[in-house]
Amino acid sequence: MKSLISATGLWTPKDSISNDELVEAFNTWSNKWNAEHAKEIEAGTLEAKPLSSSEFIEKASGIKARFVVSKDPIIDPEIMAPRIPERPDEDISILAEIAVEAAKDALAKAGRRPEDIDAVIVACSNLQRAYPAIAIEVQDVLGTGGFAFDMNVACSSAIFGIETARGLIASGQAKSVLVCNPEICSGHLNFRDRDSHFIFGDVATAILVEHEDIAPAGAWEILGSKLITQFSNNIRNNFGFLNRAAPEGVDQNDKLFVQNGRKVFREVVPLVAELISTELKKCGVPTDTIKRMWLHQANLAMNTFISRKVMGKDVDMVMAPVVLDEYANTSSAGSIIAFNKYSDDFTSGDTGLICSFGAGYSAGVIVVRKT
Ligand code: COA
Repeated sequence: MKSLISATGLWTPKDSISNDELVEAFNTWSNKWNAEHAKEIEAGTLEAKPLSSSEFIEKASGIKARFVVSKDPIIDPEIMAPRIPERPDEDISILAEIAVEAAKDALAKAGRRPEDIDAVIVACSNLQRAYPAIAIEVQDVLGTGGFAFDMNVACSSAIFGIETARGLIASGQAKSVLVCNPEICSGHLNFRDRDSHFIFGDVATAILVEHEDIAPAGAWEILGSKLITQFSNNIRNNFGFLNRAAPEGVDQNDKLFVQNGRKVFREVVPLVAELISTELKKCGVPTDTIKRMWLHQANLAMNTFISRKVMGKDVDMVMAPVVLDEYANTSSAGSIIAFNKYSDDFTSGDTGLICSFGAGYSAGVIVVRKT
């Protein structure tokens, strides 16, 4: 019994913030803060806030812009955070709304009606509320059958979600599983932290995983897959339901995304290269038969290192497509955006791999072949 990827879907916010716009807001805020604290800075009791630069951002990460659901407040130096008004409980939540948009795109591509779907998984880094599950809301709005639940494995959520879907299909729980990855990463990003204010963007993707008996012609066979996790504090966010039990910590910077980017880079590159190489060997797929690697989109140099290590040579952007220049890091959605945008030229028998990695650490690879 096999499960296949029948289609993927993408929803992109209409507004984008360029590096220059983001840096201008940061530096305006930073200069103002320094002027207001000039005496303390002079006396050495406070450290001046450093300035950010577009050149650094593009050189260090490859990121040129990012799509967001709430642009103006993020680039307003007085706010520097998204502003998304609360909605009445009767209205659809924003996370469910963008998941539904991406899902509709995937369903249309596969020629599926909502009632054909018998499970929905929302797999993403940041869930909007504790309960009811966002996935059950998506199920309700779309009108799909069966059951639904949320899961979070940070940037690896989509790949872990696909594997969970395959498990549900193998156990007979479902034949058609919709995995949605709504990522409003601007919500957990500290736009006043120079080291990370440029990293993330917002987006939603969806993946339809189906039993071989019903998957449409041209679906993607999954030749093999491997998931790994290894505990690390180098990417961490301490936001959670127990925060109110320690009021002194509420709103501190550690309740947003914090990382040691350099360590992450150094430790994750070898881990992921090894993961991919081992899985390709296990599947009996020689590297020179791989047509494309749809990698997680966090850092351009990181992807260059990983693909060079796996392929044993430099690879171009056709082989390892880049979307982070336009989208920045969109957590679990990154590799799926790349797959969604750059897979139409595949013909029957062509082979590629989708790979994600991130907080946890967590990583996952799926080797796929176009049918
Ligand atoms: N503008 C200008 N200078 C900046 C800056 C900014 N916005 N941010 C940091 N700098 C400075 C630093 O202070 C440091 O200065 P120093 O050398 O005087 O100490 C210098 O630039 C280098 O900073 P560093 O943080 O070491 O840069 P880097 O080359 O490691 O790039 C990342 C930073 C975050 C882009 C990079 O480490 C990365 O992408 N890592 C992988 C992260 C990842 O995959 N995370 C997964 C998240 S899901």
